[in-house]
Amino acid sequence: MKTLTLLSPAKLNLFLKVVKKRPDGYHELVTLFERISLYDTLRFKRRRDGKIKIICPHRDVPTGPKNLVYRAAQLLKSKHRLSCGATIHIMKRIPVAAGLAGGSSNAATALLGLNKLWGLELSREQLIAYGRRLGADIPFFLSGSTWALGTERGDKIKPLALKTKLWHVVVVPQFRLYTKDVFEHFAFLKAQKQLKYKPLSAVRKGKNKGGPAPTNMLTKTSDNVNILIRHLQKNDVVRAGKGLYNDLEDSAFSLSPRLKILKELFGRSNTLGVSLSGSGPSIFGLIRSQKEAESLKRALSRRYRRVFAVTTY
Ligand code: C5P
Repeated sequence: MKTLTLLSPAKLNLFLKVVKKRPDGYHELVTLFERISLYDTLRFKRRRDGKIKIICPHRDVPTGPKNLVYRAAQLLKSKHRLSCGATIHIMKRIPVAAGLAGGSSNAATALLGLNKLWGLELSREQLIAYGRRLGADIPFFLSGSTWALGTERGDKIKPLALKTKLWHVVVVPQFRLYTKDVFEHFAFLKAQKQLKYKPLSAVRKGKNKGGPAPTNMLTKTSDNVNILIRHLQKNDVVRAGKGLYNDLEDSAFSLSPRLKILKELFGRSNTLGVSLSGSGPSIFGLIRSQKEAESLKRALSRRYRRVFAVTTY
């Protein structure tokens, strides 16, 4: 195979609960992923000189080792001692660093595309193992499923056979929020709250300090996400809208108070539910129909530049 073109879609997190901080610095999550109809396009061309060349006209996308696509290609090359190379064109539509996992999706698409282009015949499981090493959001895109439950770092994927097709409006504010900062601030806020509300005796004894999450908390988390999944199974969008949840909102809103205003603005429309996606700054609403989504998009476009009406993909 000499050339190949693949779409690289974005995701939303309809539910994101942070369970605990892990010893490796990451956070353990329970999250519900939905693939959406906002996508980049990646074009792969085989090269004989062994080089990896990334071409992307977007000014915020690096073309060297900082790019996850480049790192995915180098990982495959070194693991399988390959002498072939590739030119990879990335046509960006997904906003960069927005909580929509555009970079992770591109890396997953690169693993899938190069597996074909270079005739490696690696299994999905092997690709997922490589993807996990590059970023926590990558395995979801490699799973090939439209819906999935993510646990551990969000990278242990359980595909869900949901048939529902939702409509959303996604607003991506101009400012940036870094995933690492949002998680760190989340941990800071949580520590502050614990100091404030926990009885002094418990603090002195060091109870619950970074240890396993209390079992009742885990049960509640899986209950809540399972309830949301049940509403989606029944295509009950009204109840699903009420079940949207993201633990990182307080942290993101505290780092960027303008985000809270955006969420409130959504709340005043006929949205069924509003949430932050991932670590932000994207905020999305669950909307009843395409028509309503297009109309809300037009209204929000008067105030925000990057507004998208998207559906389950
Ligand atoms: O995996 P990725 O590179 O996208 O994660 C970026 C950063 O976000 C990590 O370095 C970590 O600080 C934070 N993170 C986390 N827990 C997760 C996912 C990401 O703390 N489950």
